[in-house]
Amino acid sequence: MSSLAVLHESQLITLAGPPRARSGKELGDLKIIPDGGLLVANGKIAHVGKTPEIESLCQRDTEVIDSRRCVVLPGFVDAHTHLVFAGSRLEDFESRARGETYEQIAKRGGGIQTTVQATRAATEDDLLVLAKKRASWFLQNGTTTIEAKSGYGLTLKDELKILRVIRRVGTETALETVPTFLGAHAFPPEFREHHTGYISLIIDKMLPAIEREKLAEYCDIFCEQNYFDVEDSRRILTAGKQHGLKLRMHVDQLTNGGGAQLAAELRAITADHLEQTAADGISALAKAGVQPVLLPGSVYALGSKKYPAVRQMIDAGRAVVLATDFNPGSSPSPSMPMMLSLAVAQMRMTPGEAITAATVNAAASLDRVDTIGSLELGKLANFAIYDCDDYRELAYWFGVSLVREVYVRGARIPLSS
Ligand code: NIG
Ligand code: FE
Repeated sequence: MSSLAVLHESQLITLAGPPRARSGKELGDLKIIPDGGLLVANGKIAHVGKTPEIESLCQRDTEVIDSRRCVVLPGFVDAHTHLVFAGSRLEDFESRARGETYEQIAKRGGGIQTTVQATRAATEDDLLVLAKKRASWFLQNGTTTIEAKSGYGLTLKDELKILRVIRRVGTETALETVPTFLGAHAFPPEFREHHTGYISLIIDKMLPAIEREKLAEYCDIFCEQNYFDVEDSRRILTAGKQHGLKLRMHVDQLTNGGGAQLAAELRAITADHLEQTAADGISALAKAGVQPVLLPGSVYALGSKKYPAVRQMIDAGRAVVLATDFNPGSSPSPSMPMMLSLAVAQMRMTPGEAITAATVNAAASLDRVDTIGSLELGKLANFAIYDCDDYRELAYWFGVSLVREVYVRGARIPLSS
């Protein structure tokens, strides 16, 4: 069986350690091997060590990649994206520059509703073409697994259509996808005056169909003023659980509405955003073992200054996760290196903490820490080679991609498309 050896990296960032999310001091401990090397066989990591050690294991037909003056990192795991949508939000983008807020745009029927209209009008194949192009953007930026949410269909047929596209991206491209049902993203126009009707549609029609077709692993909700309140959220998420879905939640993005407490009460796996969460919300998350997913891209792109209180979360022992929130409205970026930059420059995470949050902790939040998120014996050979000597450069240089090569299951991914 032919194998692949990646040798001589300035720093091999392994993130080796227990197969679980890291917290406290562990967050900054990347388990770096200088002059490191990897041996890959059958798409998995067969050995990790110093270059001479790996060289001694190479056989005649082993393909050798020289990574001198490079850093090698596990593929990023992006635990919060809205991959599948059609249409354009450039009008909102320009309106915000002229002073309108995200909430004002939503109130007059722009925002998410614009994307819902366009996504309903698109066929599954139209959406697949768009999503595949975006999948290549993620790969080009060193991301090899993403969580992807529905939520721009808001009818039974259109939510299922989006979830099928998410599944097809996972089987037809190199990017692994983890599907989340977000039917409770907004109330659609036809239910504007009849919220309980839409909630019943989610519970009675959408969730059973998703369970039948095994189209999602997680159920999510936008718990926010003018969207789904705490009572609505409790009902929908409790039903989601009954249909076999684990929970992730959008909470406290624009206002502090008690969403973090609800995430704790329902034992959600993650509570995402948390820009407005105060100390009581953080301690509720800590008591319940909920992982915070922080999305600095949406704070940046909405022109806000209020980043989540990550240092308090780390002090409270939380195994924090960093993700892009890739979406057309509030965070049009697929770049985890950009999120590392924001995390360090704006949120005061160290570069090491940010990398842990973007790899192994994200993998744990998606229940995949046994197969991805670190470079260790037996895990999938998903990694990227970066043109730099020091891992901190990934967060330091921004607006430039340092990615040289990306591998998924030991296969090199062409990055040109
Ligand atoms: O995570 N918060 C709700 N959903 C997205 C934004 C969606 C949109 O504006 O299209 C978010 O920021
Ligand atoms: Fe989101």
